[in-house]
Amino acid sequence: MSNDTNAPQPIIRPDLEQVPAYVPGKAVPGTLKIASNEMSQPPLPSVAAAIAETLAQPSTSPNRYPDMGAVALRTRIGENLGLPMEQVAVGCGSSALCLQLVQATSQAGDEVVFPWRSFEAYPILARIAGATPVAVPLDAQGRNDLDALAAAVTERTRLIFVCNPNNPTGTTVTREAFEKFMAAVPGNVVVALDEAYIELVDDDTRATTPLADQLVGTYPNLVGLRTFSKVYGLAGLRVGYMFGSKRLVEAVNKVAIPFSVNTVAQAAAIASLDAQAELAIRIKEVRDQRVRVTNAINSATGRDTVLPTSQANFVWIDESRIKDLSPLLADGSVDTTSDLGDYLAQRGILIRCFAGEGARITVTTDEEAGQLLAALGL
Ligand SMILES: Cc1ncc(COP(=O)(O)O)c(C=O)c1O
Repeated sequence: MSNDTNAPQPIIRPDLEQVPAYVPGKAVPGTLKIASNEMSQPPLPSVAAAIAETLAQPSTSPNRYPDMGAVALRTRIGENLGLPMEQVAVGCGSSALCLQLVQATSQAGDEVVFPWRSFEAYPILARIAGATPVAVPLDAQGRNDLDALAAAVTERTRLIFVCNPNNPTGTTVTREAFEKFMAAVPGNVVVALDEAYIELVDDDTRATTPLADQLVGTYPNLVGLRTFSKVYGLAGLRVGYMFGSKRLVEAVNKVAIPFSVNTVAQAAAIASLDAQAELAIRIKEVRDQRVRVTNAINSATGRDTVLPTSQANFVWIDESRIKDLSPLLADGSVDTTSDLGDYLAQRGILIRCFAGEGARITVTTDEEAGQLLAALGL
């Protein structure tokens, strides 16, 4: 290798300097990792059996390419949504579909609008595709500010993400507010309703929050995004889906990497959709534990330390509320989000800290929630 510092460097797009390089998370064996909104249980037995069967069958064994059209999976998802498979796209996680949406709608100089703080990938994916990210702050209750998102639209806006429930605050918007927002957004701007956590919404909220499958027929510029990474427990297999008009699905499929969803992921996703009754038990546990963790902390501190409205598999503690926890802790005090992250890490629990903003703590099983609460002196 040449040590000549004057040697020409390979040319890399200068705008990529604004994209953070990937820093792998610390894997600490033996710790409780409640930092990534995963389910803690392995795939359901019926899903594990479908995975094993797929690997064993000659026609679906890993020496063969997957079905590039993912016809069986898209058809099965479509049955659930009441849509033909032409209105369903699948991708390597819904993250890939977010990127494909940006690529399919936006060119250099076009704007992608999204709530902030929200799913960390939105600004990164916008930049990867060469578009300009436009972050719109959440409202005072930690919700997507739909009026502000609509007001941020310019002639260059091509795509708006709405995250419902929002990651990391867990808040939801109302259907009424969302329909008002859709009426305000020009019909040539695509709206992506990101429903990565929608299955975790409780029944009362479900009755009043927008559900993309009920709305894509009304708004041709609306798509829904969902994933098998969360309640379905298949985060490691990387499969998500988008649904909406045939035209948008076709455009998103044009920019897909060939064969992006592997054979095992396709089979596991279908088996998961066939296991709704068993999944409902896991979903109920997460919802119950979300209430338990929220109530335990808030009744101990005597105020809304944990944002009480989470409808996802995590809870949010704003930086301004972190200090509330200090009186509960047996041997220490916490002033900032980073302090709380360090305090729990020393006790073998990893949470997600957004320094200066707040802490997101994933809620999983009764046992893991108990471990968290014990570490907080509860
Ligand atoms: C709001 C939101 N959207 C999309 C995703 C993407 O999930 P995946 O790419 O695993 O399907 C996530 C994952 O954390 C998320 O929080």
